[in-house]
Amino acid sequence: MEHLFTPFQIKGLQLKNRVVMPPMCQYSVTNKDGIATDWHYVHYVSRAIGGASLIIIEMTDVEPDGRITDYDLGLWSDEHVPALKRIVDACHQHGAKVGIQIAHAGRKAQDAKEPVAPSAIPFDEKSKTPRALSTNEVKEIVEKFRLAAQRAIKAGVDVIELHGAHGYLIHQFTSAYTNKRTDEYGRELTKFGKEVIQAVKGEMPEDMPLIIRISGREYVEGGYGIDEAIEFSREFQKAGVDMFHVSAGGEGPIAAEGRPGTHVAYQVPLARAIKQALNVPVIAVGRLDEPGLANFVIGNQDADLVAVGRAMLRNPYWALEAATILHKEIEIPRQYDRGFPRR
Ligand SMILES: Cc1cc2nc3c(=O)[nH]c(=O)nc-3n(C[C@H](O)[C@H](O)[C@H](O)COP(=O)(O)O)c2cc1C
Repeated sequence: MEHLFTPFQIKGLQLKNRVVMPPMCQYSVTNKDGIATDWHYVHYVSRAIGGASLIIIEMTDVEPDGRITDYDLGLWSDEHVPALKRIVDACHQHGAKVGIQIAHAGRKAQDAKEPVAPSAIPFDEKSKTPRALSTNEVKEIVEKFRLAAQRAIKAGVDVIELHGAHGYLIHQFTSAYTNKRTDEYGRELTKFGKEVIQAVKGEMPEDMPLIIRISGREYVEGGYGIDEAIEFSREFQKAGVDMFHVSAGGEGPIAAEGRPGTHVAYQVPLARAIKQALNVPVIAVGRLDEPGLANFVIGNQDADLVAVGRAMLRNPYWALEAATILHKEIEIPRQYDRGFPRR
């Protein structure tokens, strides 16, 4: 019987348990240069010490204008590699595997003078109107994703996650709500995403899995639902995605009737639907703070892995504590052993 603390393997990625730290922007780059700082080092390495089996480094962008803010991490230059490698190496020393979420914010790039997007539609009345990318520029961005993946691999990551959720650039192309193009990238809404997947996959070792984070449903008026999400995910799977990380929303103002639930496990049904329809491993996320609940999601086979975000901001040792509460085996760092008495 599988539970939160049984190992998991996908291709060459071997995880010691099912607890994932999901990507969470820290907006903590000091010199606006995209380079990780000591904050990032302490932040990620603490969660490795804290027992998470997979740490996915926050949204890290493929070009300066692809950042939400100037304080975001970047991977548009080789200069970004050493500081990331220092984090990855230290997480490895403490027994965690490391992924990185590669992204472009598109029209949600708040600090860009002129954000770019599939179409010139602002996020809301307060945001800048983005410039629609030319067909050639779209192809250039695919190439930038490829180069970012190449650098992530130089930094030593074990897995790559593409940010295809929350209304960022890949999602902007996939969604009929934000993609009104008439060229090849508008006639086929999944074309951009698929080209990014293939380009990134081309850089990855054969046995390294590729994750994509998707929004399993949209919250805007008339947005897509889980059935449409299953259909585009099927195409992403064919293009090379090995595992889906299923979130929701983020694409625009929330419709009155589309307001997301804020109850525990609110996104698990979306993860389960993708898993069942595509017969693919999935990561569930969203208010899975209670160890018993997270354990239930794994035992019930709703998802293969569980990501714990805000609860890990509160407690870097969430996994150690969860294993203690659930009476499951976990290696406690020797220095902290007395903090986790066995019952
Ligand atoms: C401070 C913060 C930053 C976040 N940044 C990202 C991000 O970089 N990429 C992403 O896909 N999701 C991001 N998220 C969403 C989380 O990964 C997660 O999906 C969300 O918090 C729900 O999970 P939870 O209830 O366990 O916190 C962020 C959330 C928080 C709280």
